[in-house]
Amino acid sequence: MIDSETIDKIFEAAKIEEVIGDFVELKKRGVNYLGRCPFHNEKTPSFTVSPTKGIYKCFGCGKGGNVVNFIMEIEHYNYPEALKYIANKYSIEVVENELTFEQKDKKNKKDNQYLITDFAKNIFKKNLNSKEGKNIALRYFKERGISEPMIEKFELGYAMSNSNFLTTIALKNNFNPQLLVDSGLSLANENNNKIIDRFKDRIIFPIHSFTGRVLGFGGRALKESAKAKYLNSPETLIYHKSKVLYGLFQAKTDIKREDECYIVEGYTDVISLFEKGIKNVVSASGTALGVEQLRLISRITENITLIFDSDDAGIKATYRTIDLALQEGLEVNIVILPEAEDPDSFAKNNSEEELKLFLQSKKLNFIDYKVFISKLNSITDPKKITVIKRNIFSSIAQISDSLVRSEYCKIYAKKLNVDEEIMLKEIFKIRSNINFLTKKTNNLQVVNKTKNINDETKLYAYEEEIIRLLINYGNEKINYKDGSISVVDMIINDLKIDNINFSNSVFNKIYIKIIAEYSKNNVIDIEKLIKEYDHEINSVVVNLISNQHSISINWKKQHKIFTVRENQKMRKTTEKAILSLKKCHLEIKIKNLQEKISFGNNDLSLLKELNDLTKIKTEIAKILGRNVG
Ligand code: CTP
Ligand code: MN
Repeated sequence: MIDSETIDKIFEAAKIEEVIGDFVELKKRGVNYLGRCPFHNEKTPSFTVSPTKGIYKCFGCGKGGNVVNFIMEIEHYNYPEALKYIANKYSIEVVENELTFEQKDKKNKKDNQYLITDFAKNIFKKNLNSKEGKNIALRYFKERGISEPMIEKFELGYAMSNSNFLTTIALKNNFNPQLLVDSGLSLANENNNKIIDRFKDRIIFPIHSFTGRVLGFGGRALKESAKAKYLNSPETLIYHKSKVLYGLFQAKTDIKREDECYIVEGYTDVISLFEKGIKNVVSASGTALGVEQLRLISRITENITLIFDSDDAGIKATYRTIDLALQEGLEVNIVILPEAEDPDSFAKNNSEEELKLFLQSKKLNFIDYKVFISKLNSITDPKKITVIKRNIFSSIAQISDSLVRSEYCKIYAKKLNVDEEIMLKEIFKIRSNINFLTKKTNNLQVVNKTKNINDETKLYAYEEEIIRLLINYGNEKINYKDGSISVVDMIINDLKIDNINFSNSVFNKIYIKIIAEYSKNNVIDIEKLIKEYDHEINSVVVNLISNQHSISINWKKQHKIFTVRENQKMRKTTEKAILSLKKCHLEIKIKNLQEKISFGNNDLSLLKELNDLTKIKTEIAKILGRNVG
C-alpha cells in the first residue's frame, strides 16, 4: 500500500496539464487547456483539461477523471502503478505503509525473484548469439518463420543444452542457490546436493506482467524426443499463472485501439498472429482461461474473440470460457478455423489481408457459435433440441446486464423458434439458481431490487440529479425569509424524513461519503471525492461536475454571493430534485400495491394505503407543477 501522505504529495505535485501534456498536445484556452482526445479519433479538439479543478474531460467520448485516472486510462495501469508513474515524474519518493517483519521479508524475497528472473531473461537472450544458440535456436526461429522483430518484441531466448549453464552463471554473480530454486530456475538435485537448470535445450518464451516485468518462462523443447513439449516456470512469489496472460504487455495498446482482444491457445499462436499484423492477441498459455485473466482484459476492452482449436477439448474450453466471460460483462465472439488449423498455422498459410478478412467475416457471437457446433438446425429429435436450447439459455442467463439479456431474447427467440415469454421465463429460472451475489456487479447494480427496468432507470436519473446538486452546489446557502439552509443540509434532512435510500450503488456510495464528510466538517470537500481511490466514484463525480458550462468554475473560489434570482433558482432546483425523487418512489410503491390488489389481494389496509399514497403523489405533483414556472 502506498501511504496516504505520499498520495497527497503526488496529487499536490502533479500538474495535470504537464502530465497529460506528455501524451496530448494541449493549447491554452482561457483557464483551461484544449487538445485532441487520445481516447477516440477526432479532428476538432474537444478534450479539455482544467488545471484549477485538476480534471480532464472529453466532450466527444465522455471520458474524464483526475490526473491519476488519465495515466490509468492511457497506460492501462492500475491505481498504484499510475501513482508511481507520476511520483517518478516529479521525483517524489514513494513511501509504502510500514510493513511487518513477515511482509518485509516477503517483499525482499519478491524483489529478489524479480531480479533473478530478469537476470535469467537476459542470459537466455544472450544465448541466442552464442555459437550453439545461432546453430540451434536462431535456425529454429527461421524454420518456424519467427522474425527478428518478433524475437525482440517478445524477448525470446534460448536455454543451453548444458545442464547447469544458467545456474553456474547466476551463482558466479552472487545470487544464492535458494533463490534460484525458489524462483523456479534451478532444481535441487537430491543425490549430490547440487542444483541444476530447470530449462535446458529449449526455446524460451518470457512471460511478462501487465507492465512488462518478466515473471516466469515457458520453454519449448527442440527435440521431438523430449519428455514434455513445453515446460513452464512453477508458481512462485511473482508468477501466478492464473493471473497472467501471455502477450498482454505487448498487445495492450492495440487491444485498446481495436477495442477487441483475440484469445488463442499458445505462445506460437500469439507470435504468428502478431507477425501478420494482428497485434491485439493474448493467450492463457496452457491453462483454462480464468476469471482473473478475463478481468485483466476487461481493464482494456469489453470485446473478446476466442480462437481455440476445433477439437473436442477446444470446444469444451470455448463453451466454458463463454459463460465465464459473459458473467464478467464481456461480449464474446468466436472464430472457427478451418479443419486441422491452429492460429499459428493459419496465420502462416494466409496473407495479412486474407487473415484479417477471415477473422472479420467468420466471427460468430456465442449463440450462433453454439447453434453451429451443436448442429441445432439439422437435428430433429425434440429431446436433443431442448437440451441444446437450454444450454444456450443458460449462457444468456450469465449476462448480468438485464437490458442486454432481454435484447438477446428478443432477437434469438425468433431465430431459435421459441416463444419469447417462455425463453425469458426459462432464463429467469436459471438465474434464480445462480448465486449472482458473488459475481462482479456492474455500475448500475441495484441495492434495493426494483423489479422493473424502467423504474430503475427513472430512479437513477432522479438520484443522479440529487448527487449533481450536492457535488456542484452542496455548500451553497439557500435563503428563506426566516433564515437560510445549505443545499446539502436541505437534501440530507429531507431524504432522511422519508427514509429514502439510493438504489444505484455508486450514487449510494457517494452519498454516504458526503454525509460522513459533512457531519464531520460541515462542508463537502469535492476534491476528496475526485481523488477517491474508488474509480467508480471519482469517474461519476468528475462527470457530474464537468459539464461544458461548469468546468471553468473554480469551486475553491466558488463561495460567491448569489444574486436574489440565482438564489431563487437554486432553491427551486433543489426542491424540485428532492420532490421528483420522492414522487418516483411513490409511483413505484403505488404500482406495486396496484399489482398486489389486482392479483386478488383485497385487504382493506392495502386499499387504504393506496389511497393515501395517491393523495400524497397528487399533492407533490401539484407543487412540482407550480415550481416549473
Ligand atoms: N502448453 C503448456 N504445457 C504443455 C503443453 C502446452 O504450457 N505441456 C501451453 C503452451 O502455452 C502452448 C499451448 O499450451 O503454447 C498450446 O499447446 P500446443 O498447441 O501443444 O503448442 P503450440 O503452441 O501449438 O506449440 P507448437 O506450435 O510449437 O507445437
Ligand atoms: Mn502449434
